[in-house]
Amino acid sequence: MPARLVVLVSGSGTNLQALLDACADPAFGARVVAVGADRHDVEGLARAERAGVPTFVRRVEDFSSREHWDAALAGGVGAFEPDLVVLAGFMRLVGESFLGAFGGRTVNTHPALSPAFPGMHGPRDALAYGVKVTGATLFLVDAGVDTGQIVAQTAVPVADDDDVASLHERIKTAERTMLVDAVGRMVRDGWRVEGRRVLLGAAAGPAGR
Ligand code: GAR
Repeated sequence: MPARLVVLVSGSGTNLQALLDACADPAFGARVVAVGADRHDVEGLARAERAGVPTFVRRVEDFSSREHWDAALAGGVGAFEPDLVVLAGFMRLVGESFLGAFGGRTVNTHPALSPAFPGMHGPRDALAYGVKVTGATLFLVDAGVDTGQIVAQTAVPVADDDDVASLHERIKTAERTMLVDAVGRMVRDGWRVEGRRVLLGAAAGPAGR
């Protein structure tokens, strides 16, 4: 049975698309069973609809508190019984209810090399700092801002003539490859967390999920 993925998006959904494309091959070992968003009318939801994948929306502004929204988000995700939840350009922090239900099996992809440049503006902050190499990080979501244990990283050189948009586009190309590769390894081969370290596949041993 392929692993069940629920993917959460807030925007264009190119990372989601990479997963949808990968899942078309049964050997990948997973399928996207639902896509959730924190807003309507984003291309990520349209991509899901075109792929025939069910969607749901939980907008923060429709709930009386962050906690209620978080619980509703967790309920929306839980209805699809995921093995792994993938935040792919999801621009909200999840809270206690969500982490209580899906902590340890939720990954997020971030466009910087953690622990550098956490938050909403990874490419902008890396460019402003003047680093020569940046990249993307896939990590297990915890209660912090991009602080969870690192599952995978990919490095991207910064070009002298980069602006935020060109740098982010190049990061996203590498990020999609990293995401598909790492999610595939997680679902096929399992993973294990040892302190800060995430071990994939054979390295995870028989205790791997
Ligand atoms: C990706 O680069 C992702 O890492 C980033 O948003 C982009 C979404 O692209 N996420 C964050 O910055 C979260 N802190 P996409 O919608 O085309 O997949």
